[in-house]
Amino acid sequence: KAVAVIMVGGPTKGTRFRPLSFNTPKPLFPLAGQPMVHHPISACKRLPNLAHIFLIGFYEEREFALYVSSISSELKVPVRYLKEDKPHGSAGGLYYFRNIIMEDNPSHVFLLNCDVCCSFPLTEMLEAHKRYGGMGTVLVIKVSAESANQFGELVADTITNELLHYTEKPETFVSDLINCGVYIFTPDVFTAIQEVSTHREGQANIRHLSSFETLQSPTSRALPVDFIRLDQDILSPFAGKKQLYTYETMDFWEQIKTPGMSVKCSGLYLAQFRLTSPHLLAAGDGTKSATIVGDVYVHPSAKVHPTAKIGPSVSISANVRVGAGVRLISCIILDDVEVQENAVVINSIVGWKSSIGKWSRVQADGDYNAKLGITILGEAVTVEDEVVVINSIVLPNKTLNLSVQDEIIL
Ligand code: GDD
Repeated sequence: KAVAVIMVGGPTKGTRFRPLSFNTPKPLFPLAGQPMVHHPISACKRLPNLAHIFLIGFYEEREFALYVSSISSELKVPVRYLKEDKPHGSAGGLYYFRNIIMEDNPSHVFLLNCDVCCSFPLTEMLEAHKRYGGMGTVLVIKVSAESANQFGELVADTITNELLHYTEKPETFVSDLINCGVYIFTPDVFTAIQEVSTHREGQANIRHLSSFETLQSPTSRALPVDFIRLDQDILSPFAGKKQLYTYETMDFWEQIKTPGMSVKCSGLYLAQFRLTSPHLLAAGDGTKSATIVGDVYVHPSAKVHPTAKIGPSVSISANVRVGAGVRLISCIILDDVEVQENAVVINSIVGWKSSIGKWSRVQADGDYNAKLGITILGEAVTVEDEVVVINSIVLPNKTLNLSVQDEIIL
């Protein structure tokens, strides 16, 4: 038996996700028409013998209540949200709920960051993990040397796959092999976290007694004893001790820290639906429905005019109305939006209840890493007829009656 834990973080994290995180916790922001956290959950559901899925975070319980109850009954696997009273760090959060997680004596604990987008090859990872016989197996991927420093960089033994060396977001280049934020652990991981925590307490006591505070490193001094990070505090010290191993994915992998990346990841998940859930993709069959290009998701309650042309890489949420002659490419259209006749939306996110006027254009270059590489309209933004919005971020409740480019409209 196994259980899965998905770390969802909390409201103080994910500030880079503004203005979209104003009214939805980031883990519930839709990618390919499904909440972000839905993708790792579905991957866990594909595992045999999965007893429980836990979401651990410090968002308010009520923000997850509806989603958790509907997904539990849909998947027929119990999904529970466990709320920390304060952030304990990625390993501390796991440890805080150890009794609940270990209730059914699982032999393995899957641990997944909620803000990564990948194919979650959990079955293959589990097989490798059993072969290695260690305490933990980390999913890793090769990325470009320039981008590696945004992640945990690591060195693995090319023959045994043992994790030999681990550094979190190093200033000088270590390796282009990085931590994907997806792990399998045996229950021994709780002992490892316990050790780190006991060591911390010891240090805190020494500090308390000693007047030589300056001898302590500033980072360890600032951390509360029960705040334990999986990467710095567990992976780094346990590397090279034959306890941690790596499994390299050759599939897609991205981190979802910004709205720009959510457009990219929505597209990646839509493409994955071709293989895993083709029934979720719009077919565009017959003359009565809109022209569909590539991978597109349209919520059943949305109304799309038959003369509209949609795709590739478009996701349309509940109660959206898309008018005649509209063109949508590579975008996320959130609930209750109206896109009026002949408007064009490209490389953009259109916020809940927004309205785009006739012959308007909302677009961007589509550079997912640039600050203004995709256009974002916050909740309830009105773009009037014939207005052009390019490479801009518009905060909620604004009305645009003039065209803008490369601007943040506050
Ligand atoms: N419940 C809870 N409590 N979750 C937390 C907490 C906490 O106190 N702190 C972080 N998380 C969650 C975040 O929501 C995220 O899903 C995951 O834990 C990791 O977040 P961070 O610790 O902020 O690290 P990161 O996302 O910058 O980088 C980590 O993930 C990368 C892969 O995406 C590191 O492990 C990197 O090495 C790794 O490359």
